[in-house]
Amino acid sequence: MNTQDTDKVKGYGGGGVEAVISVDEVTRQAAQIAEDISIEDLDQLVDGEPFVKIDHLNAGYGKMEILHDFNLRVGHKQSLCLIGPNGAGKSTILHSIFGFTQIYSGQIFVGAQPSPMDVTKLTSSEKLSAAGIAYILQDKSIFPSMTVEENLWMGGFLKDKPTEAKQVAEKIFDRYPRLAARRRHQAKVLSGGERRLLEISRALVMEPDLLLVDEPSIGLEPRFIDMVFEILDELQNKDGKTIIMVEQNAKKGLEFADIGYVLVSGQLAIAGRGDDLLSNPKVGELFLGG
Ligand SMILES: Nc1ncnc2c1ncn2[C@@H]1O[C@H](COP(=O)(O)OP(=O)(O)OP(=O)(O)O)[C@@H](O)[C@H]1O
Ligand SMILES: [Mg+2]
Repeated sequence: MNTQDTDKVKGYGGGGVEAVISVDEVTRQAAQIAEDISIEDLDQLVDGEPFVKIDHLNAGYGKMEILHDFNLRVGHKQSLCLIGPNGAGKSTILHSIFGFTQIYSGQIFVGAQPSPMDVTKLTSSEKLSAAGIAYILQDKSIFPSMTVEENLWMGGFLKDKPTEAKQVAEKIFDRYPRLAARRRHQAKVLSGGERRLLEISRALVMEPDLLLVDEPSIGLEPRFIDMVFEILDELQNKDGKTIIMVEQNAKKGLEFADIGYVLVSGQLAIAGRGDDLLSNPKVGELFLGG
Protein backbone atom coordinates (compact mmCIF):
# COMPACT_ATOMS: atom_id res chain seq x y z
CA MET A 1 0.00 0.00 0.00
CA ASN A 2 1.27 3.45 -0.71
CA THR A 3 -0.12 6.73 0.50
CA GLN A 4 -1.96 7.37 -2.77
CA ASP A 5 -4.35 4.56 -1.95
CA THR A 6 -6.00 6.86 0.48
CA ASP A 7 -6.72 9.50 -2.19
CA LYS A 8 -10.38 9.03 -2.84
CA VAL A 9 -11.90 9.72 -6.20
CA LYS A 10 -14.29 12.59 -5.98
CA GLY A 11 -16.51 14.36 -8.38
CA TYR A 12 -16.64 11.93 -11.26
CA GLY A 13 -20.04 11.46 -12.83
CA GLY A 14 -23.21 13.23 -12.02
CA GLY A 15 -24.71 11.06 -9.34
CA GLY A 16 -23.56 9.63 -6.07
CA VAL A 17 -20.56 7.39 -5.99
CA GLU A 18 -21.50 4.41 -3.89
CA ALA A 19 -18.33 2.38 -4.07
CA VAL A 20 -15.55 4.90 -3.70
CA ILE A 21 -12.33 3.53 -5.10
CA SER A 22 -8.84 4.95 -4.97
CA VAL A 23 -7.14 6.84 -7.79
CA ASP A 24 -4.61 4.02 -8.09
CA GLU A 25 -7.38 1.47 -8.44
CA VAL A 26 -9.17 3.52 -11.12
CA THR A 27 -5.87 3.86 -12.96
CA ARG A 28 -5.20 0.13 -12.72
CA GLN A 29 -8.67 -0.84 -13.92
CA ALA A 30 -8.66 1.76 -16.67
CA ALA A 31 -5.30 0.48 -17.90
CA GLN A 32 -6.88 -2.97 -18.21
CA ILE A 33 -9.61 -1.73 -20.52
CA ALA A 34 -7.19 0.32 -22.65
CA GLU A 35 -7.51 -0.35 -26.33
CA ASP A 36 -4.99 -0.26 -29.14
CA ILE A 37 -5.76 2.99 -30.91
CA SER A 38 -4.25 3.93 -34.26
CA ILE A 39 -4.11 7.42 -35.74
CA GLU A 40 -6.56 6.17 -38.40
CA ASP A 41 -9.04 5.40 -35.60
CA LEU A 42 -8.68 8.98 -34.39
CA ASP A 43 -9.11 10.35 -37.92
CA GLN A 44 -12.43 8.52 -38.16
CA LEU A 45 -13.82 10.61 -35.32
CA VAL A 46 -13.01 13.85 -37.09
CA ASP A 47 -15.70 15.64 -39.00
CA GLY A 48 -14.05 16.99 -42.16
CA GLU A 49 -10.37 17.87 -41.96
CA PRO A 50 -8.45 17.92 -38.68
CA PHE A 51 -7.89 21.37 -37.18
CA VAL A 52 -5.65 20.21 -34.34
CA LYS A 53 -3.21 17.37 -34.80
CA ILE A 54 -0.88 16.03 -32.16
CA ASP A 55 1.55 13.41 -33.41
CA HIS A 56 3.59 11.10 -31.19
CA LEU A 57 3.95 13.59 -28.39
CA ASN A 58 6.33 12.90 -25.53
CA ALA A 59 6.18 15.75 -23.07
CA GLY A 60 6.48 16.56 -19.39
CA TYR A 61 8.03 18.83 -16.81
CA GLY A 62 11.80 19.03 -16.39
CA LYS A 63 13.07 15.52 -16.91
CA MET A 64 9.80 13.86 -15.93
CA GLU A 65 7.97 12.53 -18.96
CA ILE A 66 4.19 12.59 -18.38
CA LEU A 67 2.75 12.04 -21.86
CA HIS A 68 3.91 9.04 -23.82
CA ASP A 69 3.42 8.81 -27.59
CA PHE A 70 0.17 10.74 -27.38
CA ASN A 71 -1.85 11.44 -30.55
CA LEU A 72 -4.91 13.63 -30.96
CA ARG A 73 -7.20 14.72 -33.79
CA VAL A 74 -10.07 17.17 -33.67
CA GLY A 75 -11.89 18.74 -36.59
CA HIS A 76 -12.60 22.40 -37.23
CA LYS A 77 -15.57 23.52 -35.10
CA GLN A 78 -15.61 20.23 -33.21
CA SER A 79 -15.21 19.71 -29.48
CA LEU A 80 -13.12 17.09 -27.72
CA CYS A 81 -13.27 16.21 -24.01
CA LEU A 82 -10.46 14.51 -22.12
CA ILE A 83 -11.38 12.43 -19.11
CA GLY A 84 -9.33 10.10 -16.91
CA PRO A 85 -8.10 9.55 -13.37
CA ASN A 86 -6.43 12.31 -11.34
CA GLY A 87 -2.83 12.68 -12.40
CA ALA A 88 -3.34 10.98 -15.78
CA GLY A 89 -1.89 13.99 -17.60
CA LYS A 90 -5.06 15.64 -18.94
CA SER A 91 -4.04 19.17 -17.97
CA THR A 92 -0.55 18.40 -19.27
CA ILE A 93 -2.04 17.91 -22.74
CA LEU A 94 -3.57 21.40 -22.64
CA HIS A 95 -0.31 22.76 -21.19
CA SER A 96 1.62 21.16 -24.04
CA ILE A 97 -0.62 22.68 -26.70
CA PHE A 98 -0.22 26.08 -25.07
CA GLY A 99 3.52 25.86 -24.51
CA PHE A 100 3.82 25.26 -20.77
CA THR A 101 5.69 21.92 -20.91
CA GLN A 102 8.93 20.50 -22.16
CA ILE A 103 8.32 18.71 -25.43
CA TYR A 104 10.89 15.96 -25.93
CA SER A 105 9.57 14.71 -29.26
CA GLY A 106 6.48 14.83 -31.43
CA GLN A 107 4.63 17.67 -33.12
CA ILE A 108 1.55 19.81 -32.66
CA PHE A 109 -0.23 21.42 -35.61
CA VAL A 110 -3.10 23.88 -35.41
CA GLY A 111 -5.05 25.34 -38.31
CA ALA A 112 -6.97 24.44 -41.40
CA GLN A 113 -5.58 22.07 -44.01
CA PRO A 114 -3.65 22.15 -46.27
CA SER A 115 -1.32 24.50 -44.39
CA PRO A 116 -1.72 24.17 -40.65
CA MET A 117 0.81 25.92 -38.42
CA ASP A 118 3.43 23.88 -36.60
CA VAL A 119 3.03 25.34 -33.11
CA THR A 120 5.21 22.80 -31.29
CA LYS A 121 7.94 25.28 -30.42
CA LEU A 122 6.03 28.56 -30.23
CA THR A 123 5.92 30.48 -26.98
CA SER A 124 2.58 30.91 -25.25
CA SER A 125 2.25 34.52 -26.40
CA GLU A 126 2.97 33.52 -29.98
CA LYS A 127 0.30 30.85 -29.68
CA LEU A 128 -2.18 33.44 -28.47
CA SER A 129 -1.34 36.22 -30.92
CA ALA A 130 -0.26 34.33 -34.04
CA ALA A 131 -1.84 30.89 -33.84
CA GLY A 132 -5.26 31.81 -32.42
CA ILE A 133 -5.03 29.55 -29.39
CA ALA A 134 -6.48 30.59 -26.04
CA TYR A 135 -6.09 28.77 -22.77
CA ILE A 136 -8.81 29.43 -20.23
CA LEU A 137 -7.27 29.45 -16.81
CA GLN A 138 -9.35 29.26 -13.71
CA ASP A 139 -9.33 31.95 -11.07
CA LYS A 140 -5.75 33.02 -11.38
CA SER A 141 -6.26 34.81 -14.67
CA ILE A 142 -8.62 37.36 -13.12
CA PHE A 143 -7.28 40.47 -11.41
CA PRO A 144 -9.60 40.80 -8.40
CA SER A 145 -9.16 44.48 -7.70
CA MET A 146 -9.52 45.55 -11.31
CA THR A 147 -12.97 46.14 -12.72
CA VAL A 148 -14.69 43.68 -15.00
CA GLU A 149 -14.04 45.87 -18.04
CA GLU A 150 -10.38 46.39 -17.14
CA ASN A 151 -10.02 42.62 -16.89
CA LEU A 152 -11.47 42.24 -20.36
CA TRP A 153 -9.18 44.89 -21.82
CA MET A 154 -6.21 43.10 -20.24
CA GLY A 155 -7.26 40.00 -22.14
CA GLY A 156 -6.33 41.86 -25.30
CA PHE A 157 -2.87 42.92 -24.18
CA LEU A 158 -1.26 41.17 -27.15
CA LYS A 159 -3.40 42.94 -29.70
CA ASP A 160 -1.56 45.41 -31.92
CA LYS A 161 -3.72 48.33 -30.88
CA PRO A 162 -5.35 48.76 -27.44
CA THR A 163 -8.48 50.17 -29.12
CA GLU A 164 -9.05 46.79 -30.80
CA ALA A 165 -9.29 45.10 -27.42
CA LYS A 166 -11.83 47.70 -26.32
CA GLN A 167 -13.93 47.15 -29.44
CA VAL A 168 -14.01 43.39 -28.93
CA ALA A 169 -14.81 43.94 -25.24
CA GLU A 170 -17.89 45.96 -26.28
CA LYS A 171 -19.09 43.08 -28.44
CA ILE A 172 -18.64 40.75 -25.49
CA PHE A 173 -20.66 43.09 -23.25
CA ASP A 174 -23.43 43.17 -25.87
CA ARG A 175 -23.52 39.45 -25.82
CA TYR A 176 -23.39 38.87 -22.09
CA PRO A 177 -25.62 41.45 -20.36
CA ARG A 178 -24.80 39.83 -17.03
CA LEU A 179 -21.24 40.96 -17.42
CA ALA A 180 -22.20 44.35 -18.87
CA ALA A 181 -24.28 45.12 -15.81
CA ARG A 182 -21.19 44.64 -13.67
CA ARG A 183 -18.59 46.20 -15.93
CA ARG A 184 -17.47 48.84 -13.44
CA HIS A 185 -17.52 46.53 -10.44
CA GLN A 186 -14.34 45.03 -9.11
CA ALA A 187 -13.92 41.45 -10.31
CA LYS A 188 -13.65 40.19 -6.73
CA VAL A 189 -17.34 40.86 -6.06
CA LEU A 190 -18.52 38.55 -8.85
CA SER A 191 -20.33 35.31 -8.06
CA GLY A 192 -18.67 32.03 -9.03
CA GLY A 193 -20.65 31.77 -12.25
CA GLU A 194 -20.02 35.37 -13.25
CA ARG A 195 -16.35 34.94 -12.54
CA ARG A 196 -16.19 31.89 -14.83
CA LEU A 197 -18.01 33.91 -17.50
CA LEU A 198 -15.38 36.63 -17.12
CA GLU A 199 -12.58 34.07 -17.39
CA ILE A 200 -14.01 32.74 -20.61
CA SER A 201 -14.75 36.22 -21.98
CA ARG A 202 -11.28 37.37 -21.21
CA ALA A 203 -9.87 34.64 -23.46
CA LEU A 204 -12.30 35.68 -26.21
CA VAL A 205 -10.85 39.18 -26.49
CA MET A 206 -7.99 37.78 -28.58
CA GLU A 207 -10.60 36.26 -30.93
CA PRO A 208 -9.07 32.77 -30.84
CA ASP A 209 -10.06 29.87 -33.10
CA LEU A 210 -9.07 27.18 -30.62
CA LEU A 211 -10.17 27.21 -26.99
CA LEU A 212 -8.40 25.09 -24.40
CA VAL A 213 -10.59 24.78 -21.34
CA ASP A 214 -9.50 23.04 -18.14
CA GLU A 215 -12.39 21.88 -15.94
CA PRO A 216 -14.96 24.56 -16.74
CA SER A 217 -17.45 23.25 -14.20
CA ILE A 218 -15.14 22.90 -11.21
CA GLY A 219 -16.41 24.55 -8.05
CA LEU A 220 -19.67 25.77 -9.58
CA GLU A 221 -23.23 25.17 -8.45
CA PRO A 222 -25.36 23.12 -10.89
CA ARG A 223 -27.18 26.13 -12.40
CA PHE A 224 -23.87 27.79 -13.20
CA ILE A 225 -22.50 24.55 -14.64
CA ASP A 226 -25.37 24.53 -17.11
CA MET A 227 -24.71 28.18 -17.94
CA VAL A 228 -21.04 27.47 -18.67
CA PHE A 229 -21.86 24.57 -20.96
CA GLU A 230 -24.45 26.70 -22.78
CA ILE A 231 -21.81 29.37 -23.36
CA LEU A 232 -19.33 26.81 -24.65
CA ASP A 233 -22.01 25.31 -26.88
CA GLU A 234 -22.70 28.70 -28.40
CA LEU A 235 -18.99 29.36 -28.91
CA GLN A 236 -18.65 26.09 -30.76
CA ASN A 237 -21.88 25.98 -32.71
CA LYS A 238 -22.55 29.66 -33.41
CA ASP A 239 -19.05 31.12 -33.53
CA GLY A 240 -17.33 28.06 -34.96
CA LYS A 241 -14.62 27.74 -32.35
CA THR A 242 -12.81 24.45 -31.91
CA ILE A 243 -12.75 23.34 -28.27
CA ILE A 244 -10.50 20.95 -26.38
CA MET A 245 -11.54 20.57 -22.75
CA VAL A 246 -10.73 18.59 -19.67
CA GLU A 247 -13.72 17.86 -17.49
CA GLN A 248 -13.87 16.10 -14.18
CA ASN A 249 -17.63 15.88 -14.50
CA ALA A 250 -17.26 13.18 -17.14
CA LYS A 251 -20.99 12.94 -17.80
CA LYS A 252 -21.37 16.64 -18.58
CA GLY A 253 -18.17 16.69 -20.60
CA LEU A 254 -19.07 13.69 -22.74
CA GLU A 255 -22.64 14.89 -23.24
CA PHE A 256 -21.23 18.13 -24.54
CA ALA A 257 -18.30 16.99 -26.66
CA ASP A 258 -18.34 15.45 -30.12
CA ILE A 259 -15.27 13.38 -29.29
CA GLY A 260 -14.14 11.84 -25.99
CA TYR A 261 -10.71 10.53 -25.03
CA VAL A 262 -9.90 8.57 -21.89
CA LEU A 263 -6.34 9.20 -20.76
CA VAL A 264 -4.63 6.79 -18.37
CA SER A 265 -1.06 7.23 -17.10
CA GLY A 266 -0.14 9.62 -19.89
CA GLN A 267 -1.45 7.38 -22.65
CA LEU A 268 -4.60 7.33 -24.69
CA ALA A 269 -6.68 4.39 -23.46
CA ILE A 270 -10.06 4.80 -25.20
CA ALA A 271 -11.27 7.16 -27.93
CA GLY A 272 -14.77 7.47 -29.29
CA ARG A 273 -17.67 9.74 -30.01
CA GLY A 274 -18.81 11.46 -26.81
CA ASP A 275 -22.17 9.62 -26.98
CA ASP A 276 -20.50 6.28 -27.47
CA LEU A 277 -18.25 6.75 -24.45
CA LEU A 278 -21.27 7.76 -22.38
CA SER A 279 -22.94 4.46 -23.16
CA ASN A 280 -19.73 2.42 -22.86
CA PRO A 281 -20.23 0.32 -19.70
CA LYS A 282 -16.50 0.24 -18.95
CA VAL A 283 -16.31 4.01 -19.03
CA GLY A 284 -19.53 4.22 -17.04
CA GLU A 285 -18.26 2.04 -14.24
CA LEU A 286 -15.00 3.92 -13.81
CA PHE A 287 -15.85 7.51 -14.62
CA LEU A 288 -19.60 8.00 -14.56
CA GLY A 289 -20.37 6.70 -11.10
CA GLY A 290 -21.56 3.23 -12.21
N1 LIG B 1 4.08 22.11 -13.28
C1 LIG B 1 4.38 20.84 -13.01
N2 LIG B 1 5.64 20.46 -12.68
C2 LIG B 1 5.93 19.18 -12.41
N3 LIG B 1 5.04 18.16 -12.45
C3 LIG B 1 3.77 18.47 -12.77
C4 LIG B 1 3.37 19.83 -13.05
N4 LIG B 1 2.04 19.81 -13.32
C5 LIG B 1 1.66 18.53 -13.22
N5 LIG B 1 2.69 17.72 -12.89
C6 LIG B 1 2.64 16.24 -12.72
O1 LIG B 1 2.23 15.68 -13.94
C7 LIG B 1 1.35 14.57 -13.73
C8 LIG B 1 0.07 14.79 -14.53
O2 LIG B 1 -0.59 15.92 -13.99
P1 LIG B 1 -1.86 16.60 -14.68
O3 LIG B 1 -2.09 17.84 -13.93
O4 LIG B 1 -1.64 16.71 -16.13
O5 LIG B 1 -2.97 15.51 -14.40
P2 LIG B 1 -4.54 15.61 -14.62
O6 LIG B 1 -4.93 14.40 -15.41
O7 LIG B 1 -4.91 16.92 -15.14
O8 LIG B 1 -5.07 15.38 -13.12
P3 LIG B 1 -6.30 16.07 -12.30
O9 LIG B 1 -7.52 15.29 -12.69
O10 LIG B 1 -5.93 15.81 -10.89
O11 LIG B 1 -6.35 17.52 -12.68
C9 LIG B 1 1.15 14.50 -12.23
O12 LIG B 1 1.97 13.47 -11.75
C10 LIG B 1 1.59 15.85 -11.72
O13 LIG B 1 2.12 15.75 -10.44
MG1 LIG C 1 -5.93 18.58 -14.38
